[in-house]
Amino acid sequence: MARLLKGRPLAKKVRGEVAGAISAAGDGARPPGLAVVLIGEDPASEVYVSYKQKGCAKVGMVSVLRRLEDSVSERAVLDLIRELNEDASIDGILCQLPVPDQISPARIASAIDPAKDVDGFHPENVGRLWRGEDGLFPCTPRGIVALLEEEEIPLDGARVVVVGRSNIVGKPLAAMLLREHCTVTIAHSHTRDLAALTRSADILVSAMGRPGVLGPDHVTPETVVVDVGVSRTADGLSGDVDFDRVVDLVKAITPVPGGVGPLTIAYLLHNTLTSWRRSRDLNG
Ligand code: GUN
Repeated sequence: MARLLKGRPLAKKVRGEVAGAISAAGDGARPPGLAVVLIGEDPASEVYVSYKQKGCAKVGMVSVLRRLEDSVSERAVLDLIRELNEDASIDGILCQLPVPDQISPARIASAIDPAKDVDGFHPENVGRLWRGEDGLFPCTPRGIVALLEEEEIPLDGARVVVVGRSNIVGKPLAAMLLREHCTVTIAHSHTRDLAALTRSADILVSAMGRPGVLGPDHVTPETVVVDVGVSRTADGLSGDVDFDRVVDLVKAITPVPGGVGPLTIAYLLHNTLTSWRRSRDLNG
């Protein structure tokens, strides 16, 4: 059986580092504050947001949940973001996706103060990532790179195929891996002969959200598989990779759940800590 790459131990370590940095600031210090904007009642978003709030409580951060009705106007969301941008007790702001059709995720991302943009979706942070500068960068890709490093998977010169070109995972992950000197190919729904391409990869990352579509044909005994997909099926949670048919055929694989998932919130807390530290450095 392949080596299993599990995210929970690293997530715990990162949360421990964040908690340690907050407690080292002393009782008198203002704790970091994270504001989560949740629009409507998407059941999966409710679950993710509750995990984010619990994550904050565990490390000594304050979380503020701002709920808005499904029918809310974009103007009202932008007004709320402006209020949170100006709130000195808030270090991180995120708007949980997906949002209703009348709201543009791109306009929301652009409205958040880049210094508080803990999702790393603002164009300024996207540009900083691709230019190789400091900034706040997306949490799931940060978790993937950290997990590969923790597991000592060589990145320098590695051939990586990322399947999926979303702004949340595929594109930022490609930028981060490029910074680690990987040779990165981004594949997507229009890619021809996907299996031939993925078999050429040392590291195969899938972030499509289409359950079980990658199977034995897509891998070799040398492939390290990172499965970012999480879909609800009749049999429970499923990744993009048909785990049972692939696990004995590859070098290493992340399970779903318990692989990449736990790292997203750990790095959200880490980004919020970074933003809090910068604000303390600036404001004394
Ligand atoms: N929905 C699914 N993943 C994410 C994420 O990383 N950030 C936000 N804001 N919404 C999401």
